[in-house]
Amino acid sequence: MLRSRITGTGSALPEKILTNLDLERMVDTSDEWITTRTGIKERRIAVEGQFTSTFAVEASRRALSMAGIQAAELDLIILGTVTPDFPFPATACIVQHEIGAVNATVFDLSAACSGFIFGLSIADKYIRCGAAKKILVIGAEVLSRVVDWSDRNTCILFGDGSGAAVLEATEGESGLLSTHTFSNGSYWNTLYQPGCGNRNPATNERTIADKLFYIKMEGNDVFKHAVRAMEEAACAALDANGMTAADVSLLIPHQANRRIIDATAKRLGITEEERVFVNLHNYGNTSSASIPISLDEANRSGRMKAGDIVLLDAFGGGFSYGSALMRW
Ligand code: ACO
Repeated sequence: MLRSRITGTGSALPEKILTNLDLERMVDTSDEWITTRTGIKERRIAVEGQFTSTFAVEASRRALSMAGIQAAELDLIILGTVTPDFPFPATACIVQHEIGAVNATVFDLSAACSGFIFGLSIADKYIRCGAAKKILVIGAEVLSRVVDWSDRNTCILFGDGSGAAVLEATEGESGLLSTHTFSNGSYWNTLYQPGCGNRNPATNERTIADKLFYIKMEGNDVFKHAVRAMEEAACAALDANGMTAADVSLLIPHQANRRIIDATAKRLGITEEERVFVNLHNYGNTSSASIPISLDEANRSGRMKAGDIVLLDAFGGGFSYGSALMRW
């Protein structure tokens, strides 16, 4: 049976580190509060001259190099982001140009923190129906430029970076077993960026003075829904494949908050630390980039062995959520 398999992963992060102690000097917060409530210790922040495409290009090059293929062999590039370089054209076009993927069709995908899973899901369908053989899926964000650095409720949470994966068609047993995606638009304004779309176009008053350019979030609401939705998405993946949580070698959840990760893992019955990948203490919430960065780190550090069952599980603004189950 034709399926898709990840043959290369890559990630790229800004060098600049912003610690909880740095944040103590910027807003009324403390390392203790941030660590206890979120698990985050530091995050990476883009500097002038670095954009979403900067990290996407670097992560893509690393993924291509691991896969051992040339960019010109790619049929498709899907880039998940809520912080594109420009409203248009797609940031994927810039990546295509920079890496030389001259034969690829490319587009951006807006599914917030679920962007990478939604991208994998689309890529998998292209491959299964024979429309593409080699696809690059990227998650990339520079959230630091849409964060209100005077709002302690949100500025402590987010970070910048990118992760990417090359998918190739295979007839083998290893690869993506299933993807499940879900959307619940009733909560579109629970986590969103009000300004700069055509509902609130850029003006000095609305965008700058009223701070509509920045991320707005009902943290508690997001938290509750995230845990329930990530459990639902994970169970959908396991049920569809006749598996239980006991079959999962590694859960790679979206890295938003340690408490969300722990609560999700507990509901699923994945209690052992070594079966849950966590790196948000280093990077904070990088939205669509969090899962591919984690996947790359897990891959390069040997956390996944051939035949392992790996479960990716995401939740984000929209609300959007989803899962991908694969045999490594
Ligand atoms: N430092 C100190 N105190 C703070 C801070 C801070 N950085 N932020 C909030 N507080 C205060 C609040 O003002 C409040 O004070 P009050 O009781 O005097 O009003 C108190 O701490 C408790 O605030 P809560 O919002 O109830 O704290 P909670 O335990 O819910 O934690 C948090 C807040 C961390 C935002 C949590 O709700 C959360 O993680 N939610 C999910 C957010 C998230 O993951 N979003 C992204 C997911 S989707 C995506 O990635 C796009």
